[in-house]
Amino acid sequence: MAKFRRHVFICTNERGPDDSRGCCKAKGSEDVLQAFRLALHKRGLKRIVRANKAGCLDQCANGVTVVVYPDAVWYGRVTAADVEEIVERHIVGGEPVQRLVLPPEALSGIEPAAHPEA
Ligand code: FES
Repeated sequence: MAKFRRHVFICTNERGPDDSRGCCKAKGSEDVLQAFRLALHKRGLKRIVRANKAGCLDQCANGVTVVVYPDAVWYGRVTAADVEEIVERHIVGGEPVQRLVLPPEALSGIEPAAHPEA
């Protein structure tokens, strides 16, 4: 079994057109996923870096949403055209692409530590 060094989770959640929350699928997430897989394959990284489909990552307004672990770097409004840059600069070079990084204050959701009863 491959031991992956990084996982890239790409939200591919789909909602109906009447849902006001929107969804990453409608913003091109399948193209983003395929672009990641192609970029990783091209560089011979597919056995150590895995691009995974993810359900809703609770950042719908910022979609297409991508998160890279174990780095815990969140990207927002990612398009297929951004993927080569993310793979080259972040996955290969170790430096997140700051123009696409979602700052902590932009992330929706609640830190578990802030709500110990949860
Ligand atoms: S639908 Fe993609 S983050 Fe919610």
